[in-house]
Amino acid sequence: MPRFGISFLVLGFAGLLNASLLDYNYEPSFDEEQPPFIDQVVPANDDQEAYIVPVSEPLGQVAGIALDAQNHILAFHRADRVWEETTFDTNARLNKSLGAIANETIFVIDPESGKVVERHGAKQFYIPHGITVDAQGNIYVTDVGLHQVIRMDKNFKPTLTLGHRLEPGEDETHFCQPTDVAVASNGDFFVADGYCNSRVMKFDKDGKLLAVFGQAPTEFPAVEGEFLVPHSLSLIEDMNLICVADRENERIQCFSAGLTEGIRSIPTGIFITGAEDIGRVYAIREKEHYLIGITDSEADAPMESQLFVMDMNTGKANVFLKGVENAHSLAIGNDGSVYIAQLGPNQILKVVLGGGEEQ
Ligand SMILES: *[C@@H]1O[C@H](CO)[C@@H](O)[C@H](O)[C@H]1NC(C)=O
Ligand SMILES: *[C@@H]1O[C@H](CO)[C@@H](O)[C@H](O)[C@H]1NC(C)=O
Repeated sequence: MPRFGISFLVLGFAGLLNASLLDYNYEPSFDEEQPPFIDQVVPANDDQEAYIVPVSEPLGQVAGIALDAQNHILAFHRADRVWEETTFDTNARLNKSLGAIANETIFVIDPESGKVVERHGAKQFYIPHGITVDAQGNIYVTDVGLHQVIRMDKNFKPTLTLGHRLEPGEDETHFCQPTDVAVASNGDFFVADGYCNSRVMKFDKDGKLLAVFGQAPTEFPAVEGEFLVPHSLSLIEDMNLICVADRENERIQCFSAGLTEGIRSIPTGIFITGAEDIGRVYAIREKEHYLIGITDSEADAPMESQLFVMDMNTGKANVFLKGVENAHSLAIGNDGSVYIAQLGPNQILKVVLGGGEEQ
């Protein structure tokens, strides 16, 4: 059994991938702007390495990344499509001159060799965004151009489509540039909606709407339950928490997922805990009560990009890597390796946070 939690703490050799080693000039220190939640910084060690996965075919902007049960990387990328100023009008409608992306947008990649072993999603997607794989191997993608969430079976055949094609909206049947999905073991799933709505929606496995929570901030600073670009979701099922990367509010907020049965259960969407002032959080994923997140910064922002690991049992977090450009999503392997997808340079990083003796 992989000792995931331990592997963050135990120093050990973790095998090198045949790929270029990155140099992030890691500095184990914070400036005075140290966010309150991140109270300890672990120095870089010899075993912490970051590599570019040597993907055998050209990638566009890698918007989403996930791992399947075989530990293959699923990369949801934009091929020759780039989200730029003319891509959407002010009502979040996709520029009519843009058709579906001709190339395959979902690559299944062997993480060791980088070989693309399967390609899917040609002529199907407009602006790929999030990708999530559930315990049964179903694949959920969000497309901010389509304004839809699509579930596919493990053969990439669509089994459920929510939202109206190319039509943004804010009622119960529309999304507006939905960003990410998190799935419970019973098939219930959460959708972060999105760039232009400020809510999280919960559906059952048949696509029936079960709950909605969140709203746009009415004043600054935003209060609990307000979102400014909910960009990524992580469900910590055995803690009954759905955590939201509230990107432009530079925080993570975790709410009751409403999954427990019985008379004492808390309804969906009650604020439980959070982490404030941690930078623009693009992606969060969880394994064994470690919430891993990645932030990015703009030129004038005080904090640089960082990969952090937060122990959800204690609320303490450590920073492991700084300076990754344009990180957009991440995935955690069963061995604790972290994969980071970037939107330029268009590539996938593998980060080994410390392997432990068991390797
Ligand atoms: C599209 O696919 C072709 C064939 O695999 C490949 O040669 C080309 O580089 C791809 N273009 C982009 C933009 O990904
Ligand atoms: C739509 O995209 C095309 C091609 O990029 C661009 O020339 C055009 O100006 C865009 N339209 C709008 C309304 O932005």
